[in-house]
Parts: sequence; structure tokens; C-alpha cells
Amino acid sequence: MVRRIWGASNARAPTFMRVALCTAFFLTLLLLSMHGSALVAADAPPLPTPAAPTHTQPQSALQDVPTLAQTQAAAADRFTLLAWNDLGMHCYNRDFQDLAVLPPYNNLYAQVVRVGNPPQIVTTTVTVDYAFADNTYSVGKSNFWDFEKALFGVELAPNIGLTGNGLDGPMAAKPNHFVAEGIPLTEYSDSAPTTRHPYQLATVVARASAGGAKLAQLTAVAPVSTEMRCDKCHSDGGEEGISTGRVETNILTLHDNENSGEYPPGHETPLMDRRPVLCAECHASNALGAPGVAGLESLSRVMHSKHAGESPDTTLGCYNCHPGPDTKCLRDVMSQQHSMGCVDCHGGMEQVSQNPTPWLKEPRCDTCHNDPQYAQNQPLYRNSTGHGGIYCAACHDSPHAIAPSREANDALKFIALQGRNGPLVTCTVCHLTVPDGPGPHGMAAPPPIIYSNWSYLPTVKQ
Ligand code: HEC
Ligand code: HEC
Ligand code: HEC
Ligand code: HEC
Ligand code: HEC
Ligand code: HEC
Ligand code: HEC
Repeated sequence: MVRRIWGASNARAPTFMRVALCTAFFLTLLLLSMHGSALVAADAPPLPTPAAPTHTQPQSALQDVPTLAQTQAAAADRFTLLAWNDLGMHCYNRDFQDLAVLPPYNNLYAQVVRVGNPPQIVTTTVTVDYAFADNTYSVGKSNFWDFEKALFGVELAPNIGLTGNGLDGPMAAKPNHFVAEGIPLTEYSDSAPTTRHPYQLATVVARASAGGAKLAQLTAVAPVSTEMRCDKCHSDGGEEGISTGRVETNILTLHDNENSGEYPPGHETPLMDRRPVLCAECHASNALGAPGVAGLESLSRVMHSKHAGESPDTTLGCYNCHPGPDTKCLRDVMSQQHSMGCVDCHGGMEQVSQNPTPWLKEPRCDTCHNDPQYAQNQPLYRNSTGHGGIYCAACHDSPHAIAPSREANDALKFIALQGRNGPLVTCTVCHLTVPDGPGPHGMAAPPPIIYSNWSYLPTVKQ
């Protein structure tokens, strides 16, 4: 039986107070890190043998026949690139003219491993770029760029998001990984700009800092969806019989009717009279690093508590607001192979609403998988690392997409790296030769063939 992680009765005190999470305080970041979107070609032909970067052993150009030492050096110059999205799904509003819950804002992470005995995580001698071959612009696919000034107080160049990142560009080097935050990605591919496609594909490329030779490339999913089904209850004639012509204005009218007497000083104007409205102006949202107005409940708290009893405590109920009955953002091994749903890990609406620090305190893998070998070393899975400093999500993928996932696009990178779907288990993806010692979670080499009864080569959807 699956155990709930936390709730009103067993909520643990927050173990940390880090508000400066990945997405926090982007407005400050914006001023610091605004940059253009220098395009790094993602369609360069695959590189045969990288020109020797300065940090590797130089080879003489005069020798035709490589020596054994050179062959070994070349093998040791193999790099593995790991890449993933941090959340497993990012949701943004389809239309920003009336209200915004969340902006277009996708985060990609990467680690570069220099294959060897032992393998080495590198961040200083390599650069990593991302691009979307079939998703190169967002203006026209979203009206965000007509309202970003009103919503967030900043004027953004077309196709540039709130952190200054565009749809292609460099990832920032951190001590043990690379990251691109706030990519303003939409769910619409260039090739089908009106068809929703939530499992967008990013091309991530690692290059030698010196010389720029391509070292490794990987295609990873950047999941994104606008599927919020507020319309199921708030369309014209729905809740309280309000009919303004649009779902969003129905919601704002309802909110004004219920609460306008309580709007805090400096925020008194009815929401309908000052559209577009950012919910996080008043209700704190850690997803945005937005503190809200002191004394008012967080957005997560008000939304889940107000709708408790209205939207059922089932995965389909959660899909009323989280993407969604079409997107089905929950696609991981536990949902597909073990019939688990949102409520098994998060609890129901009331329990979610009791989260003291939304987004920063979430279910933990090691609450259920409580053998010490699966312990997280950080409060959040997305920040945790395991075997040799490799991110849990580099081997398992993001929450809600824990490999093997239902989506063929999620499988692409695992197939590219190790020939089959499922968590990274093939030692030689990172080790030059199969090590004698124990691997991830104490696993002995050679690794077991896991998930052998599953299909490893699903039909790839673009
Ligand atoms: C399953 C039906 C359902 C769905 C789906 C739904 N709501 Fe509601 N919502 C309600 C009901 C019922 C109320 C309470 C109406 C009342 O107080 O008379 C409500 C109230 C609200 C209120 C007003 C709260 C207040 O008292 O000020 C807001 C704001 C709101 N919903 C926003 C949303 C948004 C945004 C979405 C989509 C992300 C959404 N709702 C989806 C049923 C729903
Ligand atoms: C001007 C400040 C302000 C803005 C902006 C704002 N709210 Fe509110 N909201 C309030 C106040 C004040 C209340 C009533 C006090 C309370 O219940 O916390 C409230 C109540 C609610 C409630 C009902 C809580 C309950 O339990 O009755 C919901 C749901 C809600 N807001 C959702 C939203 C959403 C969604 C947005 C964006 C569309 C939004 N709010 C924007 C100030 C605001
Ligand atoms: C009526 C709409 C609505 C429904 C139904 C809903 N959510 Fe949410 N949920 C939201 C909104 C809006 C946010 C974003 C709040 C923010 O930006 O901080 C959110 C955020 C979250 C978060 C992240 C913030 C946190 O509290 O940690 C979790 C987890 C979550 N929802 C889980 C669930 C689960 C599980 C269900 C089903 C039991 C569910 N939600 C149903 C509207 C909804
Ligand atoms: C609410 C409890 C719960 C949480 C939280 C949870 N799991 Fe699971 N997980 C299960 C259960 C139950 C199974 C079914 C198989 C089993 O009993 O091991 C499972 C199965 C798995 C499997 C597949 C094993 C197999 O052989 O089919 C993987 C991989 C996995 N979980 C990884 C994770 C990761 C990574 C996290 C955190 C992001 C996580 N789990 C969070 C309960 C949970
Ligand atoms: C197997 C357990 C599991 C199931 C099932 C599950 N979640 Fe989660 N969810 C998690 C974990 C673990 C995290 C925290 C990830 C982290 O710490 O980085 C999380 C985080 C979240 C967040 C915060 C943002 C993020 O992605 O980190 C939201 C929102 C959310 N879940 C919604 C849902 C909804 C909606 C469903 C059902 C459609 C669902 N979850 C099903 C385990 C689960
Ligand atoms: C180098 C790759 C790698 C890293 C890093 C990694 N894992 Fe795993 N993990 C695996 C593989 C492969 C399996 C499947 C084999 C097994 O069940 O032991 C697995 C299995 C699991 C399981 C499933 C247990 C079950 O029921 O079968 C959980 C839970 C898990 N890992 C959690 C984590 C967490 C949490 C982290 C980070 C602290 C992490 N892993 C880091 C490769 C990795
Ligand atoms: C995704 C990359 C990755 C995969 C896959 C991986 N490892 Fe590792 N492994 C590392 C890293 C990085 C280190 C840390 C090297 C260091 O700094 O000492 C490491 C260290 C080790 C070590 C200790 C140092 C050494 O090389 O002796 C052993 C033993 C080991 N791994 C065994 C395994 C086994 C067995 C497997 C397959 C079941 C495996 N690893 C899969 C990345 C990986």
C-alpha cells in the first residue's frame, strides 16, 4: 500500500528556508542576465572526430596510424551529455489578456560526463547550448509579449523570457551542472503552430570551450502545456451564473464579487478594472518567487482549499487545472506500471492546500522507497544527486516522467544513450569499462536487465 507523504496530520516542519529556488526572483535576475539570443546552430552535421580541445592530450597531426595510446586517449575523450527538464511539466496560460497564473517558463538542466575510469563530471572546459529545431519562436503562438509589461513590469524583446533566455542559447555553468531557466517555450511546434504538442524536443549540445568542437548531443523533452480546464466550471452561465463572454473574465468577476471588500491597501481596484491580473500580485507563489501580500494566503493554498469538494480527489480531478485530460502530464513508470495517481503521492485537495511552503516542500521518493540506498541528499528530488554526483533526474528523468515513461519522446534520450528506454543502467555510458565495484544504489555490475518485458523502441512521435 502506498503511503502518503505529508498532510495536515503529519506535516513535517519545513526543513529548509531556501526561497531562492531555480525560478525565484527572476525580476532581479532579468536585470542581471538579460542577453540576446545568439543562435547556436543545432543543425550542424554530426561531428566525426572532435578536434583535440586544449584540455585533452595533443595528438601529432603528422602521424597517420594511431598508436594504442592514442586510441585510448581518443576513447577517453568520449563525453556523455545528460539533459532533462526539472519539473516534468510546465503549465502556462493560453491567453494573458485577462489573467496570468504562470508565464511561459521552462527550465532545462544538463550534466556533462567525461567518460573514463573513473568518469568525471565537467563544467569548466565545456559549454552547453540548447535549441528547439521545430520551435524557434513564441510570439504569435502566445500573446504573452503583449502583456508582460503590465503583468511583470518588464519590457521583453520578442521571444525572450523573464530571465533573458530565448528559445536557443547557452546554458549557465554551475559547480556540477548546466542550467537554462525561464525558456519561454510554447506547446506549439513551428511545423504545426496551432496543434498542441506538450512534449517538445530540445536539442542540447556540449562543445569544447577551446575550439568549440562538438563533444556530445542529446535530444531531451521540455514539457509544456496550456491545458487548464477552468472552463469546465467557469464558462458562461457556470459558477454563480456569471456570463461575461470569456472564462477568464468570469473568474475575475466571481473573485471581485466574493472578495473585493477585502483587497489590501494599494491593491483595491477591482480585478476586472485592471486587467491583465497576475494572481501572484496578492497570493504568494514560490513558482515565481513572488512573495504576494503579507497576510494573504498563497495561491496554492487558496486554489486547493476553495476547490476542495468541488474538484474530486482523483487524477482526473487534478487534471481539471493541471495538464490535463489530453496532456496527461503524469506518465511515469509508477502511473503506467503500478496504477498510481496524483493523490497517492500528493494527497487530495485539502492536503495539498496545507503545504506550508508550496513548490519547495513536495513528496519525497525516499518516504516510500525508504531503503537508505534511495535516500535523497536534498529536500527536493529535482535538486538531489546520487551515484558519483550524478543528478537523480539525469538517470531517472523528471518527476512525473520517471523512466520508463509513457511518452515516446521521453524515451528518445535513454535509447540514444544506452539503446533502450528505462533509467540509465548501462555503466559504460559513463565508465570507460564496466567497474568492479558497486554502481548506483549499490547495484552490482554487470547491471541487471531491468524492465526487460517492456517495449524499448516505441513509435517516436514528433
Ligand atoms: C470542477 C469545477 C471547477 C473547476 C475545474 C475550476 N473551478 Fe474555480 N470554482 C469552482 C467553484 C464551485 C467555486 C466556488 C463558487 C462560489 O463560491 O460560488 C470556484 C471558485 C473560484 C474562484 C473564486 C474564489 C473566491 O471565492 O474568490 C476562483 C478565483 C476560481 N474558482 C478560479 C479557478 C481557476 C483559475 C480555475 C482553473 C485553473 C478553476 N477555478 C477551475 C469550481 C471550479
Ligand atoms: C488584489 C489582490 C488579489 C489578487 C490580484 C487576486 N486575489 Fe484572490 N483573493 C484576494 C483576497 C483579499 C481574497 C480573500 C481573502 C482570502 O480568502 O485569502 C482572495 C481570495 C481568493 C480565493 C478564495 C479563497 C477562499 O478560501 O475563499 C481564491 C480561490 C483566489 N483568491 C484566487 C485568485 C486567483 C486565481 C487570482 C488570479 C486570477 C487571484 N486570486 C488574484 C486577493 C487577491
Ligand atoms: C481548481 C484548480 C486546481 C485543481 C483542481 C488542482 N490544482 Fe494544484 N495547483 C493549482 C494552481 C493554480 C497551482 C499554482 C499555484 C502557484 O503558482 O503557486 C497549483 C499548484 C500545485 C502544486 C505545487 C504547489 C504546491 O502546493 O506544492 C501541487 C503539488 C499541486 N498543485 C497538486 C495538485 C493535486 C495533487 C491536485 C489534485 C488532488 C491538484 N493540484 C488540483 C490549481 C489546481
Ligand atoms: C507515494 C509513494 C511513492 C513515492 C513518493 C515514490 N514512489 Fe516510486 N514506487 C512506489 C511504488 C508503490 C512502486 C511500485 C513498485 C514497488 O513497490 O517498488 C514504485 C515504483 C517505482 C519504480 C519502478 C520500479 C519497478 O521495478 O517497476 C521506480 C523507478 C520508482 N518508483 C522511482 C521513484 C522515484 C525516483 C521517486 C521520486 C521522484 C518515487 N519513486 C516516488 C511508491 C512511491
Ligand atoms: C509517484 C509520485 C507522484 C505522483 C503520482 C504525482 N506526483 Fe507530483 N510530485 C511528486 C514529487 C516527488 C514531486 C517533487 C519533485 C521534486 O522534489 O523535485 C512532485 C511535484 C509536483 C508539483 C510541483 C512542481 C514539480 O513538478 O516539482 C506539482 C504541481 C505536482 N507534483 C502535481 C502533480 C499532479 C497534478 C499529479 C497527477 C497528475 C502528480 N503530481 C502526480 C510525485 C508525484
Ligand atoms: C547513475 C544512475 C542513477 C542515479 C544517479 C540514481 N539512480 Fe536510482 N536507479 C538507477 C537504476 C538503474 C535503477 C533500477 C535498478 C534498481 O532497481 O536498483 C534505480 C532505481 C531507483 C529506485 C527504484 C527502486 C525500486 O523500487 O525498484 C528509486 C526509488 C531510485 N532509484 C531513486 C533514486 C534517487 C532518489 C536518486 C538520487 C538520490 C537516484 N535514484 C539516483 C539509476 C540511478
Ligand atoms: C550517468 C553516469 C554513470 C553511470 C551510468 C554509472 N556511473 Fe559509476 N560513476 C559515475 C561517476 C560520475 C562516478 C564518480 C567518479 C569519481 O569521481 O570518483 C562514478 C563512480 C563509480 C564507482 C567508484 C569509482 C570507480 O570508478 O571505481 C564505481 C565502482 C561505479 N561508479 C560503478 C558503476 C557501475 C557498476 C555502474 C553500472 C551498473 C555505474 N557505475 C554506472 C558515473 C556513472
